Amino acid sequence: MHDDAIRRAEAAIAKQAKWHHRIEVAPGVTTPGLQDTPALLGQIGMPEDLTGMRVLDIGARDGFFTFEAEKRGAAEVVALDNEPPHHTGFAIAAELLGSKATYVTENVYALDQERFGRFDLVLFLGVIYHLRHPLLALDRIHDVTADEGLMLIETHMIDEGLVDGEGNWRALRDFSPDLEKLPLAQYYPGDMLGSDPTSQWAPNRVALEGWLRGSGFEPISSWQVAFRGGAISRRMPLGANGERAVDEAASWDMTTWTVEKSTAIGR
Ligand SMILES: C[S@@+](CC[C@H](N)C(=O)[O-])C[C@H]1O[C@@H](n2cnc3c(N)ncnc32)[C@H](O)[C@@H]1O
Repeated sequence: MHDDAIRRAEAAIAKQAKWHHRIEVAPGVTTPGLQDTPALLGQIGMPEDLTGMRVLDIGARDGFFTFEAEKRGAAEVVALDNEPPHHTGFAIAAELLGSKATYVTENVYALDQERFGRFDLVLFLGVIYHLRHPLLALDRIHDVTADEGLMLIETHMIDEGLVDGEGNWRALRDFSPDLEKLPLAQYYPGDMLGSDPTSQWAPNRVALEGWLRGSGFEPISSWQVAFRGGAISRRMPLGANGERAVDEAASWDMTTWTVEKSTAIGR
């Protein structure tokens, strides 16, 4: 019986050519993911006990974090990805593990409270740097996060890995020590980041924290390991700190802008 389960798991794993996650799907049988997923789990700050929580795993891919949330007692887990589950290892791993998670093939921009409800914990791991509209995604996530709910984010970060004109990854401080203190993001046209055409924007740590605050999430802590990093953040009500203010730019009193004033004085 035991050997049968192992053989069945190995045969199922072999049906998927590319695994991203390393998931133990049967005793001693782990999917051959490129990513060191258990190491990432140790970095993101996922609470040990998720008893009773509704959890949303955005960009679930092969489902490691979805299944981990189930293991930690979540009452309901929704895995969302714009790729269908049989394009990744998700469908295979979910079946082997007997997962009860709901899979939704959808874009992060489509999140809305009416359709999805609100979540106590949102995982937004390894997705934001793939997005043309990172701040729009954070706004949509805010819409579906419960009051004071947690959002864990993980991303490529540029503090240790700004891509220079020759395509080399260099630390921001090598250009100037001041740059680490400024909120900066790098845009990657084409396949500038590691020959990956799906990468778009990456922030430094200060910018990531600014993006979070500007979207209504208070960073509780942030972390960095080499070219990656992230934050644990708590959803706050909108309004106190001018979040999403850019959406209201048309109604601003432009005469309060310093540049407008100095132009007027100079005339
Ligand atoms: C690098 S993988 C990250 C997987 C996993 N969250 C992790 O951190 O290990 C990025 C995943 O996000 C998904 N994705 C990319 N853009 C998306 C979008 N706009 N909406 C939903 N999912 C997206 C991809 O299909 C892919 O499965």
